[in-house]
Amino acid sequence: MKDLDIPAQWREQTAGILDGRPRVILVLGGRDMGKSSFCRFLAAELLASGHSVAIVDTDLGQKDIGPPATVTLGRATGAAGQWIGDLEGLYFVGSTHPVGRMLPLVIGTARLVGAANAAFVVVDTDGYVDGAGRVVKGYQIDAVRPDLIVALEKRGELEPILRPYGTYPAARIRPSAKARPRDRWQRELSRKQAFAAYFREARRVELGLDEVVLQRSLLFAGEPVAVAGALYAGRTPEGVVAVAETPVGRADVAKQLRPGFERNLLCGVADGHDQGVGLALVEGIDFGRRSVALFSPVPREKLRVIQFGDLYLAWDGSELGRVDRAGL
Ligand SMILES: Nc1ncnc2c1ncn2[C@@H]1O[C@H](COP(=O)(O)OP(=O)(O)OP(=O)(O)O)[C@@H](O)[C@H]1O
Ligand SMILES: [Mg+2]
Repeated sequence: MKDLDIPAQWREQTAGILDGRPRVILVLGGRDMGKSSFCRFLAAELLASGHSVAIVDTDLGQKDIGPPATVTLGRATGAAGQWIGDLEGLYFVGSTHPVGRMLPLVIGTARLVGAANAAFVVVDTDGYVDGAGRVVKGYQIDAVRPDLIVALEKRGELEPILRPYGTYPAARIRPSAKARPRDRWQRELSRKQAFAAYFREARRVELGLDEVVLQRSLLFAGEPVAVAGALYAGRTPEGVVAVAETPVGRADVAKQLRPGFERNLLCGVADGHDQGVGLALVEGIDFGRRSVALFSPVPREKLRVIQFGDLYLAWDGSELGRVDRAGL
């Protein structure tokens, strides 16, 4: 915080917010415009004036709060250098990029803004403001109905988002001259480090498939069916889902996965109330013993829901690949 350059406009905007008391403040801007820096400054100022401040971090890649591939809720605290406090909420999106994952991104944004219990709720967003990024920003506005949109823009680049939502109050401010772009490699490295830090304290947990439910997959969603050569086969109204090395040769197969498809898959984990509690990496599913082995820092007693994601990760946080378009 001490290296932050505070343009006069940022101070004026903050004073205006203290005055007008918009509760939910959505911060928009292109990549590296200083959205997160502004959110930190605003939260610190509101906190210093005696107000409670919740932060909803909807950036999936470059996060201030919690691990990548999630929407997170935190609370600004006064501790020096650590003013964003513990994780109070998490919604697993499943990817570090919004394209293809717009629905969980918008749902996660809505759920965590709804869960925030504070005088001010500051919503940080990612820097994708063109194309699909523009579309998702519109739905995020629809979902949270912000009392104020703060738009960090240089030369009108956010107008295609702001004008269609012109019924919402918006403040257009300019980025600091100190805002610096980060290249793709720096972003990748910071994601890897964030995943590695998250999984540092992880341990192996083995769970019976009767102890957990699986979301975002058709696997285990239907009654078992006998299919020669398959490790697993289940019948669903959409067709048979099978895990087998070679084609099972049935006309009614909706999906066939190769054995080992689950190894290193990034998953979200939720508790018995379907509240996100963290992430896990799948070590493997034992179809014979009907158990799943995970690697996760979340305590075993909280693991009740496993949500399949889109990304394969190594234990050290590096990205190994993505789930193909057919999904799991
Ligand atoms: N007001 C400021 N004072 C000093 N440095 C700044 C300021 N605004 C931005 N920066 C620097 O510019 C870079 C990008 O800033 P920041 O991460 O806040 O942007 P962002 O819009 O949140 O980026 P992203 O699109 O990755 O989410 C950082 O290195 C940050 O330290
Ligand atoms: Mg940011």
